[in-house]
Parts: sequence; structure tokens; C-alpha cells
Amino acid sequence: MSASLATVSYIGATILFILSLGGLSNQSTALRGNLYGMVGMALAVLATVFGPTVTAAGLPWIAGAMVLGGGVGLYAARTVQMTQMPELVALMHSMVGLAACLVGFASYVDTSTQHTGAEKVIHEVEIYIGILIGAVTFSGSLIAFGKLNGKIGGKPLLLPGRHLLNLAGLLVVVWFGREFIQSTSVAEGMTPLIVMTVVALLFGVHMVMAIGGADMPVVVSMLNSYSGWAAAATGFMLSNDLLIVTGALVGSSGAILSYIMCNAMNRSFISVIAGGFGTTSAAPTAAAGAAQPAGEVVAVNAGETAELLREAKSVIIVPGYGMAVAQAQHTVFEITRTLREKGVNVRFGIHPVAGRMPGHMNVLLAEAKVPYDIVFEMEEINDDFPDTDVVMVIGANDIVNPSAQDDPTSPIAGMPVLEVWKAKTSIVMKRSMASGYAGVDNPLFYKDNNRMLFGDAKKMLDEVLGSLKG
Ligand code: TAP
Repeated sequence: MSASLATVSYIGATILFILSLGGLSNQSTALRGNLYGMVGMALAVLATVFGPTVTAAGLPWIAGAMVLGGGVGLYAARTVQMTQMPELVALMHSMVGLAACLVGFASYVDTSTQHTGAEKVIHEVEIYIGILIGAVTFSGSLIAFGKLNGKIGGKPLLLPGRHLLNLAGLLVVVWFGREFIQSTSVAEGMTPLIVMTVVALLFGVHMVMAIGGADMPVVVSMLNSYSGWAAAATGFMLSNDLLIVTGALVGSSGAILSYIMCNAMNRSFISVIAGGFGTTSAAPTAAAGAAQPAGEVVAVNAGETAELLREAKSVIIVPGYGMAVAQAQHTVFEITRTLREKGVNVRFGIHPVAGRMPGHMNVLLAEAKVPYDIVFEMEEINDDFPDTDVVMVIGANDIVNPSAQDDPTSPIAGMPVLEVWKAKTSIVMKRSMASGYAGVDNPLFYKDNNRMLFGDAKKMLDEVLGSLKG
């Protein structure tokens, strides 16, 4: 393939990647977005493998690596459970980081291309920064993977003087960067490069160890962003424009997603990176001075729930993490269909951080074939609760907690929430009075217009469906 054809293919792949990201922003276009991404990636790989930079001798190596990598990827994608998705993503980010490190070292010891003067400095800066970001991404993502699958405890590790330690690490990296650039031979430059790599690996471990369980999904999205920048740095090292553009797209979209998640969880991005959050336990707690919810809860059974639903003209379903745990989405869909057949207006209200990963609820509802046009984002539906007869809160807790608005001392004060208590009746389905992820009690349960349907969401909804049909 000629160089110009490879360039045209790269431009085509870049456009497809941009269209892919655009498509992924909406459920109805997500499938198309994925297809664009797949075609773009196939084009990019073909243009690279058959492009001017790969020699015939390299082809068997590339083919072997693709079969091995593709096989592992295919196996992982087919076997992973939906709830394990964040840890799989973390593991994949670690691979991008490792690749950036390996390409960096290979590029440094490769003497086939001689750089001199300013070009040499620029090339070495690219290598240094590429390995730095790659090493942080690699070790940080491995720790994130360990934390997400429970092999490493979720509690943040808060070393004394940890910010000073990080600062000292940064100074070491800058100092050895200077040594590296000033080195006159590969042998001389190798020591500062290795020292920096070790410091960066330790920094990655320390950074993610300091972050608590509740903030881990933000960290995964942040590491996603880092892996993009690592790929972009690799692109600079290999003088591959497509890798630079793709890396920048991943880097910036990961950063935007982290920002959106932080906003929805009422955390500042800096405080997530600084670590120490997520120390709250699962038992209900209250911040010093925070008002404790008081009163009695009113429990209902499945039959009474079905009765309330049958009498309603408008229903909003608010799913949360418990629906994912109970795998109740298919029954939720059956109930939705039954109610819609009876003329009830049924809609879904989705909080941006419902569940444990971005889009968690949307994926589950799509899997159960819930029509997209009745699934609404929080901002789209929040004003409609006062005109709603019944809200079914299925395994959700923090995202419907009124203390986020009413109690400035609450740990979740300021977090945007779905205002379900404004409906005529709300029914909360969960197994007990236990708190959600943030570990705070929920005054919603004690409101006069709220009912509690205790039990596993799938089991209770099956009973509700039985009563509705019967
Ligand atoms: P949570 O506040 O975690 O509440 C989930 C509730 O589901 C629990 O209170 C639990 O109560 C109930 N539950 C668990 N298993 C159940 C089952 N089998 N059947 C019925 N109920 C069950 O979830 P949420 O309202 O979706 O809020 C998400 C939380 O995660 C927020 O605090 C958010 O900040 C955090 N978070 C989310 C993300 C993303 S990106 N989604 C990222 C990081 C953190 P019982 O034990 O009593 O059943």
C-alpha cells in the first residue's frame, strides 16, 4: 500500500472514530456507533499492517500478536458478566499503559533512526513522557482491577504525608528527565529512564490505593483518559498520526466522562485524584449534626403494589443498583408492557450515576428491550414527578435521597437526585432498611406518601406481575 493510500485510510478511520463517539452518546445510535468504531479500527489496522512502515519480515509477528490478542479479547468479552465490566476495562487500560512503556523503551534503544539536535530532544521528550504516562496507567489500572474484583481491599490507603510523597516523586521525575535529555548515549540515558519508570509505577500504585471504593468508577474513567494520552504519546514516538488522533480522542472523552461522573456524584475532580474518599461504610451513618430521619415506614406487599399500579394513570420507574444485582430488568419490562397495555403511561427516570458504572441502567433496560423513547435522563423527567401517580423505585437508594437537597450537613448534600417524593405515591423496593453506596440513611423511606416493598427485587416484581395479570 502506498504512503498516500495509507494516509487517506487513516483520515477515513479518524472520521469513523469521531462518528463512533458521536453514536455512543445515545442509546438509539449506540449500535451504529459501535459499528463505525469496528470498521474504523479494521481500516486502521489494515492501513498500518500493509502500509509503508511494516516490512514483510514483520508480518508473521503482527499476525501472531493479533491472533493471540484477538483470542484473549474475544474470550474475555464473551465471558465477562455485566457487573464485571469496569474491572475488564481497567485491565485493558493497563495493557495500553504497558504497550506505551514497551514502545518507549524499544524506540529508545532502536538506533536505526538517528536523531540529532532539536529533533533528538523532542524524540527523547516524547519517549520520557510516553513511558511516564504509560507506567502510571499500567500500575494504576492493575490496582484498580484488583480493587474492583475484591482482590485488594476497597479501603483507601492513606500514607502519612502522602501528598509530600507524590510531590517528591514528581521532583525526582523532573530531575531524572533532565539527566535523560542530557545523556549522550543510550547506555547513559537508560538509568534515568529506568528510575523514572519505577517512580511512575510506584506513583500509579499509590494514587489508586489512596482512592476509596465509592470513587473507583471515576478512577477507571480517569485511567481511560490516561490510557488515551499514553496511546497519543506512543503515536508521537512512532510518528503515527492516527494513533495520536485516536489517543487524543480517548484521552479527552475519558476526561469529559470523569468530569460528568464527578458532577453527578457531587465530588470535585481534584478531590477524587487526591484520594481518601469512599471511606464510608455500608451501614447507615450520618455526618456530625446531620438530621436523622424519623418516623415509621409503611410496608406493603406485592398485591397492594399491583393495586396501586393498576389504579395509576402515570407511573415512573426509577431503577438502581439493586435492579442490576437482582437481574430484575426482564420482569420490569414485563410489568411495563402489561401496564402500557392497560393504558397506563409508564416512563423510566435514569440518574447519571445509578448503579455502578456509567450507563449501567440503560444497558440493562436495553437488554430487556425496554423502548428507548420511554427512558428519560434525570433532567428530562425531574419536573414531572408532581404529576405522577406512582413512582416505583427498584433497588435504588442514594439517587432518590431527599437529604441531598434538604440537609446541608449530609455527606451527599448537593448531589443532584430524582425527586420521587413529589409524586402522589412512591414505592421503594429493597430487601431491608440498609443504606446504599454512600452509607447514609434515607428520609424518603419515612415519608407519608412512601411505601416499602421489602424483598429481592426480582422475586417481588415477579409477584407484582403475577398479581397484575391475575
Ligand atoms: P445504591 O445507593 O447503592 O442503593 C442500592 C440499593 O439496592 C441498596 O440500598 C440495597 O438495599 C438495594 N439492593 C441491593 N440488592 C438488592 C436486591 N437484590 N433486591 C432489591 N434491592 C437490592 O444505588 P443507587 O441508588 O443506584 O446509587 C448509586 C450509588 O453508587 C451512588 O451513591 C453513586 O454515587 C455510586 N456510584 C455510582 C457510579 C456510577 S458511574 N453509576 C460510580 C461510582 C459510585 P438492600 O440491601 O436493603 O436491599
